[in-house]
Amino acid sequence: MLLNFVDCHTGPVPRTLADVPWPIRTDRLLIRPVTPADATAVWRYRQLPAVYDWITTAPAHAAAFEAYFVEPHRQSVTLAVEQDGVVIGDLYLHVEDAWAQIEVKACASGVQAEVGYVFDPASGGRGLATEAVAGMLVICFEHLGLRRVVANCFSDNTASWRLMERLGMRREAHTVAESLHRSGRWLDGYSYALLAEEWQAR
Ligand SMILES: CC(C)(COP(=O)(O)OP(=O)(O)OC[C@H]1O[C@@H](n2cnc3c(N)ncnc32)[C@H](O)[C@@H]1OP(=O)(O)O)[C@@H](O)C(=O)NCCC(=O)NCCS
Repeated sequence: MLLNFVDCHTGPVPRTLADVPWPIRTDRLLIRPVTPADATAVWRYRQLPAVYDWITTAPAHAAAFEAYFVEPHRQSVTLAVEQDGVVIGDLYLHVEDAWAQIEVKACASGVQAEVGYVFDPASGGRGLATEAVAGMLVICFEHLGLRRVVANCFSDNTASWRLMERLGMRREAHTVAESLHRSGRWLDGYSYALLAEEWQAR
């Protein structure tokens, strides 16, 4: 039997972060790829307990953070957010493959992104993080031509999931006691997503 699979080799060539016309500007902010020189500015807020409590990595001191931050993969997936020339936050943008059956795997390569965000609490409560993540969605959908954006957080991280919901992202999963927090507690998690057509319809 001859099976007829979708042919993805005729589609557009996937774009990369190198193709984005940096910097990207929003009303109040500028978004650009980080450089190793941003380590000190980013460490300034990432060393705060209110910030590192929620995020994946909590280096113990500035030198350990710098070693983590300048690593080439980390640099390639991290964007700086500036307000008036000062770095107030950073964004994570990791283009990845969607799950697919083996026969059509090539069609699902590099079609979606996982995103994340970390902001200086001193800049909080004014919609700046929401504005920056909205800018990142423009990068994902308009500049990179991705079909889906996903993001994850602990369910206790109310500020994070409220931000995603402000941007119209949909809660797609509530995992129960699935993620281990460095305090030793197993916490619930939420997964959110948004499709390109949903973004365009807003
Ligand atoms: C997640 C995080 C970025 C959210 O920060 P935030 O200050 O709540 O987000 P914003 O800057 O978008 O501000 C939103 C708040 O400002 C208010 N606001 C004021 N002006 C606004 C505007 N023009 N647009 C949108 N919101 C506005 C909103 O109502 C909201 O307040 P509320 O939650 O009390 O309703 C921040 O808490 C953080 O960096 N935490 C530590 C790291 C982290 O948890 N990262 C995510 C891991 S999954």
